[in-house]
Amino acid sequence: MLSFLCSLPILVQIGLLIVGVLGCIKIYLKMTMGICTSTKKLSGKTVIITGANTGIGKETAIDLAKRGARVILACRDLKKAAIAKDDIIRESRNKNVFVRQLDLASLKSVRKFAAEILKSELRLDILINNAGCATIEKKLTEDGLEVQMQSNHFGHFLLTNLLLGLLKKSAPSRIIHVSSVAHAMTKTLDLNNLNSELSYNTGTVYYYSKLSQVLCTRHLAPLISSSGVTVNCLHPGAVETEIFRNAPSWFKMIAAVCFPLFFKSAKEGAQTTIHLAVADEVANITGEYFSDCKVAKTSKLANDVGLAKKLWEVSETFVNLKPEERHF
Ligand SMILES: NC(=O)c1ccc[n+]([C@@H]2O[C@H](COP(=O)([O-])OP(=O)(O)OC[C@H]3O[C@@H](n4cnc5c(N)ncnc54)[C@H](OP(=O)(O)O)[C@@H]3O)[C@@H](O)[C@H]2O)c1
Repeated sequence: MLSFLCSLPILVQIGLLIVGVLGCIKIYLKMTMGICTSTKKLSGKTVIITGANTGIGKETAIDLAKRGARVILACRDLKKAAIAKDDIIRESRNKNVFVRQLDLASLKSVRKFAAEILKSELRLDILINNAGCATIEKKLTEDGLEVQMQSNHFGHFLLTNLLLGLLKKSAPSRIIHVSSVAHAMTKTLDLNNLNSELSYNTGTVYYYSKLSQVLCTRHLAPLISSSGVTVNCLHPGAVETEIFRNAPSWFKMIAAVCFPLFFKSAKEGAQTTIHLAVADEVANITGEYFSDCKVAKTSKLANDVGLAKKLWEVSETFVNLKPEERHF
């Protein structure tokens, strides 16, 4: 075999070596991928998933609808959401799937969404803060906050606080933040530059927003530890979705080659979220960060309780959280 390979032209040998290495990486990635093995049913349970019209959120919705949950798709674009809703109902054979409008980049929209939920829903068992975006230029929202920070962190922060009372009433219940390993790509979190007040860098804003989700998970967990509500966050893996839709075209070209080779499918990327939503073995775990359905290490900064407390307080100010909206 070896002498046959050596007799091949050098370029063919190099080609075969590259294919072999890529194949091994792919097999390794498949073997280490976390898969939710729970068969738990969710009949009688209500779930909200933000950003559920595509990607990881949509696959999460399909899975939880298959388990019998009442699933509320919290989406900003009602046309996209209606198409997703039809797909989810068709795939899950569960008609208990509903759309409600939510634009996380608008505090008014978050408040309106939460008010409607509090009026219409008797219970909320699982809140999945999944929506997220990666933008490439600085843009402030109508609230004067940086759009990536508001969509990924501040919007979910306000939503979680507004729905915490209902989650407590429905306990045992779960809050899940879809964060990212990107939280570890910043060595600092400048609380004076959360909305790019001093300087702007697209990557840094994304890292800040994902780190903020981990820090707020850590901070909230002990505050609600006796309520029966758990709060955890996760990294879904590198997943082939629309998350890089705003990236430059050279990046998209590289991604077109790399995504099928190294990235998880959206269904695979949804596994850790689903695990945190349904698995019995995580029922009493709170304040943790998961990856591939297992507790994983965060950056040192993400364990800084003092920073987490300060970030929580600053976030309360930015979203104008009223004292009566604090549910702990
Ligand atoms: N894909 C990855 O490799 C990866 C890795 C680590 C973490 N994540 C995280 O995983 C989560 C899901 O992302 P994905 O990969 O599934 O990306 P995706 O396919 O782009 O889905 C993102 C979802 O978020 C929604 N969204 C964005 N901004 C919103 C806003 N202001 N208000 C309401 N909804 C908004 C999008 O709605 P529209 O369709 O209307 O834009 C879409 O439904 C994100 O939090 C992301 O940061 C992804």
